[in-house]
Amino acid sequence: MLEEQLLDPHRHDRQAFTSGVAELDEYLHRFAIQQSKKGVTVVRVLIDTDKSETVLGYYSLSAAQVDVLQLDARAQQKLPRYPVPCFRMGRLATDISHQGKGIGRILIGCAVERCLEARKHVAAYALIVDAKGEKSKAFYEHYGFTPCRDTPLTLYLPLGK
Ligand SMILES: CC(C)(COP(=O)(O)OP(=O)(O)OC[C@H]1O[C@@H](n2cnc3c(N)ncnc32)[C@H](O)[C@@H]1OP(=O)(O)O)[C@@H](O)C(=O)NCCC(=O)NCCS
Repeated sequence: MLEEQLLDPHRHDRQAFTSGVAELDEYLHRFAIQQSKKGVTVVRVLIDTDKSETVLGYYSLSAAQVDVLQLDARAQQKLPRYPVPCFRMGRLATDISHQGKGIGRILIGCAVERCLEARKHVAAYALIVDAKGEKSKAFYEHYGFTPCRDTPLTLYLPLGK
């Protein structure tokens, strides 16, 4: 059974994870635990309970803000003219041996669910993501994310009312 868990160095084999993007692999191998301990990000992994040390994919979430002028005209009309509170999914990756099997879709769903839960307590307009290139930008656009006006590799998904 697939399960989302908080990244735990004692339970999850971080070093075996390979997504094909060195920066995203290095982040999980070297920095994810450090940054979690410092309280600047929360990293969650997707595992199969039959082999729960194997990381199938992961994502990270932090608080963030975006300049209202980066959003589309409709959003600009309804939002006040100061930085808009958001959540940021700084990183998301699927292990290369599991890509194309729906893991990325599950990870995005989990991240959005976490954001919807958190915004019951702390307001946030959107989930923003940083795509690592045109291919991952296309992946996010597939899920309805909109590129920011000046920095199109940063995309946002309004979380609704
Ligand atoms: C991008 C990535 C996260 C996708 O994960 P995945 O587990 O292979 O994706 P899924 O199998 O869940 O695909 C889900 C959907 O996205 C679509 N999709 C996948 N990659 C896509 C792309 N580059 N462009 C457009 N759509 C894409 C799939 O067709 C699928 O569509 P469907 O649900 O309508 O059938 C994965 O390829 C990856 O880790 N790549 C390297 C790291 C990276 O680029 N991370 C993202 C930026 S930080």
